[in-house]
Amino acid sequence: MTESIYQLRCIGCASIVARDQMPSNFRCPLCGELYEVEYPGWSRGASPTETKSWMPNASALRWLWKERCHSTDPLDQSGVWRFREVLPILADFSQAVTLREGNTPLYSMPRSAKSAGVERLLAKHQGMNPTGSFKDTGMTSALSVARERGYTWVACASTGNTSAAMAAYAARAGMNSLVLIPEGKIAWGKLSQAMDYGSLTCQLRTDFDGCVHVLGEVVKRAPVYLLNSVNPYRLEGQKTPAFEIAEELDWEVPDHVIVPGGNLANCSALGKGFLEMRQLGLTTRVPRISVIQAEGANPLFLSIEQHGGNSLQAVEAQTRATAIRIGNPASWRKAVRILRETGGFCEQVTEAEIALAKAEIGREGIGCEPASAVTLAGLKKLVHQGKVHASESVVLLLTGHTLKDSDYTIDFHRRTLLKPEESVGLESVLASLECGTVTLDASAEAVLRTLEERMSK
Ligand code: F0G
Repeated sequence: MTESIYQLRCIGCASIVARDQMPSNFRCPLCGELYEVEYPGWSRGASPTETKSWMPNASALRWLWKERCHSTDPLDQSGVWRFREVLPILADFSQAVTLREGNTPLYSMPRSAKSAGVERLLAKHQGMNPTGSFKDTGMTSALSVARERGYTWVACASTGNTSAAMAAYAARAGMNSLVLIPEGKIAWGKLSQAMDYGSLTCQLRTDFDGCVHVLGEVVKRAPVYLLNSVNPYRLEGQKTPAFEIAEELDWEVPDHVIVPGGNLANCSALGKGFLEMRQLGLTTRVPRISVIQAEGANPLFLSIEQHGGNSLQAVEAQTRATAIRIGNPASWRKAVRILRETGGFCEQVTEAEIALAKAEIGREGIGCEPASAVTLAGLKKLVHQGKVHASESVVLLLTGHTLKDSDYTIDFHRRTLLKPEESVGLESVLASLECGTVTLDASAEAVLRTLEERMSK
């Protein structure tokens, strides 16, 4: 029904591949680069006349998408498929596998705004998705394609969140899933999710980049469908938070959107969303999209600083923000392209800056996982460098729920997270946010004494 509307184009050599000829590793056989779903009607570069001939007008779309929020149809209740006119990747939408993902809150962040030095700061909390991370929005789209193509097995390598999302959606669809994760390097909450949803979960004695390598071999030899973010259908779902942000701001876009960078697909997915919205006449401009990495897992930052973004500087990744502990990101070229197209920046932040930002987000009553907190830490740096001005409106993309990695939070408050040399210069501000825990005798007097001490501070 909808299938003829899109094509798959290589972002390296611009060649087009037929849908049923897509290589199992999603890489172009001619140049090795990744593919992107392109809609001749409204993708970047399409002429306005082309756009008109393919799409209903912008106000009709805005009305339709809002109207669906009141529907009882599961497809309409999904914050991804509610926007299905802009992701016509299924022949039959009724086959979509949905857990009612998306429709996540856009919170105001007054205290974090003050600490970062901007007047208007919002957080789009993608951790409020069914499995607790932004991955659900891309998983509903790509796994639905897998099911439509007749696959019974899906697979991914993961730092934890992709595997949790894939396992859940596969279980929902009655499919089987294979997860490769680096042993001892993912948060327990995420591992437990993959187990709960019944995945074949292999912990490999390597890091995330090693898992990706092994999975590349597996998909060549076994009939499993790869659901890492090299799969271009993932990005179609992951672009929808851009539509939600614009919708929530009455079809105005913020000046700046800040995203954590790991395998580097999400920044380009959001960028694609904003670019397509402008092309469709839903909005009139595109925000800057900036990517923030942990200092110990900073291949994009180094690639831009040392090679102008023209080649990748892979690193051996090391950070307590395990979700983004990635040294050889698959989608680096897509990320560079989106930074260039939107005028965004790439920054890196230290472990102490991440811990501080996470605690500050927690004090807003919002909370997030460490990888998400790089966004606030990065914003502070960009403001300090004069790259973001106080009057600009900024949206942070919080990618994961705080309960994903509660060990990190507890270690922070017990003061065992950071080595003394890591917190130099930030000791007092970190200490002001640490709650600690006290163990007391079971007596009201003991609790009252502790309460009085706290009240007198
Ligand atoms: N934030 C969180 C919480 C993540 O889990 C990830 C990636 C990112 C940010 C980075 O997004 O890779 O698109 O740049 N996690 C992956 C995983 C790699 O396996 O769960 P990206």
